[in-house]
Amino acid sequence: MAKKKKLRSSEWFGGKDKMGFVHRSWLRNQGYPDDYFQGKPVIGICNTWSELTPCNGHLRDFAEVVKRGILEAGGFPLEFPVMSLGETIIRPTSMLFRNLASMDTEESIRGNPLDGIVLLTGCDKTTPSTVMGACSVDLPTIVVPGGPMLSGRFRGEKIGSGSMNWMIKEKQKKEGYSTADFTEAEVCVARSIGHCNTMGTASTMATMVEALGLTLPGFSSIPAADSRKKLFAQLSGRRIVEMVKEDLKLSKILTRKAFENAIITNAAVGGSTNLIIHLTAIAGRIGVDLKLEDFDTVGSKVPLLLNLKPSGKHLMEDFFYAGGLPVVLKELQKLLHKNTITVNGKALTQNYQDAICYDTDVISTLKKPLQKEAGIAVLKGNLCENGAVIKPSAASKKLMNHKGKAVVFESMEDYHKRIDEPDLDIDENSVIVLKGVGPKGYPGMPEVGNVDLPEKLILKGVTDMVRISDGRMSGTAAGTVILHVSPESTVGGTLALVKNGDMIHLDVKKRKLHLAISDEELEKRKVAWKAPKPLASRGYVKMYIDHVEQADKGADLDFLVGGSGSKVDRNLH
Ligand code: FES
Ligand code: MG
Repeated sequence: MAKKKKLRSSEWFGGKDKMGFVHRSWLRNQGYPDDYFQGKPVIGICNTWSELTPCNGHLRDFAEVVKRGILEAGGFPLEFPVMSLGETIIRPTSMLFRNLASMDTEESIRGNPLDGIVLLTGCDKTTPSTVMGACSVDLPTIVVPGGPMLSGRFRGEKIGSGSMNWMIKEKQKKEGYSTADFTEAEVCVARSIGHCNTMGTASTMATMVEALGLTLPGFSSIPAADSRKKLFAQLSGRRIVEMVKEDLKLSKILTRKAFENAIITNAAVGGSTNLIIHLTAIAGRIGVDLKLEDFDTVGSKVPLLLNLKPSGKHLMEDFFYAGGLPVVLKELQKLLHKNTITVNGKALTQNYQDAICYDTDVISTLKKPLQKEAGIAVLKGNLCENGAVIKPSAASKKLMNHKGKAVVFESMEDYHKRIDEPDLDIDENSVIVLKGVGPKGYPGMPEVGNVDLPEKLILKGVTDMVRISDGRMSGTAAGTVILHVSPESTVGGTLALVKNGDMIHLDVKKRKLHLAISDEELEKRKVAWKAPKPLASRGYVKMYIDHVEQADKGADLDFLVGGSGSKVDRNLH
């Protein structure tokens, strides 16, 4: 018989000395029996619950359900909070704090007597931040995705969380919506517990962790309010105890092939462009070499199978009733790597053999896809030397090859001030260029890339224009929006040098983004360019600005890339 591996937690609880006494004794104030400290796997439930993160507001209840499962399997559950990021509330942007939350997660795990980890996640950044942190420690880890909200209805029409925001200006200007109309819409949008119910970033992240193999199969698409969500949470609690016994660590699951599976799946579901940044950062933590170009080579030819907002018309609840992610993963099995292992110990493709599609209007097939090539396109050119991205499934076909004159905004404030000026020289063929919204520039790379069009063009019936920035875009938004331009304008990327009236050529098919000025002129502007003053002189924000990497590298802090393992040599005394 194989020798039982010594539990990591026994270094705390197994001691016969003073420190063993101290570690056990204080915890016992919560009434745990002494056998809890004698070789039960200790499972940390890392909870991103917070009332300031509405999408994760139900995770306190979920932790109790996870505990049930852990106890049943003979584990010892200990729940702990980590920094939680509420996408719709925290200023200036949740992305500024993703890396901070990941540090919190990493150190909370490493510093404590834990053998296995359950990550309770939901809203956009709460998934990547906790997964990144957990990767840098590399213990057996399972993810419990909090689940999307139920579909809302507003005046008889299905309404997605996040989709309404992008129509507010249009609704006000064209349909005369009043404050009372919007007040009514507010509660319709957020109909139940859970995160955004479109294939926005939160659903994209939940899909991503399942495709990576980090959740029980079928977990990610279940709505938060469905009883099966809790059932799966309980089963995850049971499973993590087994994973500790099997020593099924993150690094065994998160191989290069698992990352490629996640990229393929993201294309098929029409997932958010934010996946690029988060997946790259996660790969960096676990030591997998993932480049921006990989998203294009691995994913761009993958067809769109899912008819979900913002690329299509349905919502996550419909997706679940249609069979959910299992149907998509079964359909994709020809394209996916077969020998990646998941948290249940089986291969990804093996897990979904029994999936059945109940609604082909929601989930289509490889033979009849909604779009032939849906993955993210990575653009190159003198305007984005290290790359930029566009999500073709959310863009307008007629703008995919487009030449237009730049209308430049030097900052978000400049944009707000001038976009609706009646005499702004702009028409539907112009290219809106927004600077200063990259990782260092804002700071934190906010989701502002899909800026509203000028009022006068909206009133003319224009619905889309080419927009270019070094920022991100919400996963719930759509449009011909070029994002993540790298290097960003604040560090002197070519984007910083664009002037009003310059011609810009976008050719998505050729993957080209070109600023049509001579090399000599470009050089002249480079020499004349002056770096803006840093936006912070102290605190975390200063550290962030000093150390954040560019978007093409995942916008992690340079010193956080990689991991330090789970070992801590020194004790309290
Ligand atoms: Fe939390 Fe959309 S705001 S998921
Ligand atoms: Mg978002």
